[in-house]
Amino acid sequence: MSTNTIDNSRKVTTRRLIEMKHRGEKISMLTAYDYSSAKIIDEAGMDVILVGDSASNVMAGNVTTLPITLDQMIYHAKSVMKATKRALVVVDLPFGSYQGNSKEALASAIRIMKESHAEAVKMEGGAEIRESVERILSAGIPVMGHLGLTPQSINKFGTYNVRAREQEEADKLIADARLLEEIGCFAIVLEKIPAQLAGEVARQLSIPVIGIGAGGKVDGQVLVMHDMLGINKGFSPRFLRRYADLAGIMNTAIQNYIKDVKSGDFPSPEESY
Ligand code: KIV
Repeated sequence: MSTNTIDNSRKVTTRRLIEMKHRGEKISMLTAYDYSSAKIIDEAGMDVILVGDSASNVMAGNVTTLPITLDQMIYHAKSVMKATKRALVVVDLPFGSYQGNSKEALASAIRIMKESHAEAVKMEGGAEIRESVERILSAGIPVMGHLGLTPQSINKFGTYNVRAREQEEADKLIADARLLEEIGCFAIVLEKIPAQLAGEVARQLSIPVIGIGAGGKVDGQVLVMHDMLGINKGFSPRFLRRYADLAGIMNTAIQNYIKDVKSGDFPSPEESY
């Protein structure tokens, strides 16, 4: 195979994502928290699967991402890893498992890597978590950064509105992004910030910048699977494109099943032993 040919069956690695940025190939990323979904997503050709702490919202029904535990993240990550052959699997370090104590941060990241066999972790924040990021990187664990709207800080922000509209916050975000690149992160997620700012960060950095609500001038996009498939219909920010109405499809199928059970139509002789 010539070196210019893109091989879609090849395992995605952190190094490959950086190569993709450099040749201008956009990176696709989607969340998964369970075996069956991860298998479908991986077989569809996704580049990165994120075992996001959004599992706290869409799997467990919590209002924020804060309650999910390290044990629960490891449970989800193990299920996803059993199904994934090609995509790079990144796991969120949950709230409380890395802030403020870099030794604890490393212990949390090591548990994720050892117990789930995932390939990288994601952490929210910039300069304030530098020591934790550096300690995890020093153990050979790849780290993806996450800046902008960082949902683990929702109680500090007070709203899920667009971040970094003001110059001061935009300047800090650029400085944080450059810092994360400098200390060795392999990629950064930018959530819900102005498209122009996100494009500027992507232009300044040589590592991939993956956006969610950050416009199209970045190196890739990430969405939450339950939102884009229309399973979770209570969430409709402007940045969300819905690719299906699975809640509607499931509702119709389930109502038909109930009807068939009630009427005695199911099971038929052919469906019986
Ligand atoms: O937890 C998550 O799903 C995320 C994405 C929104 C980037 O962090």
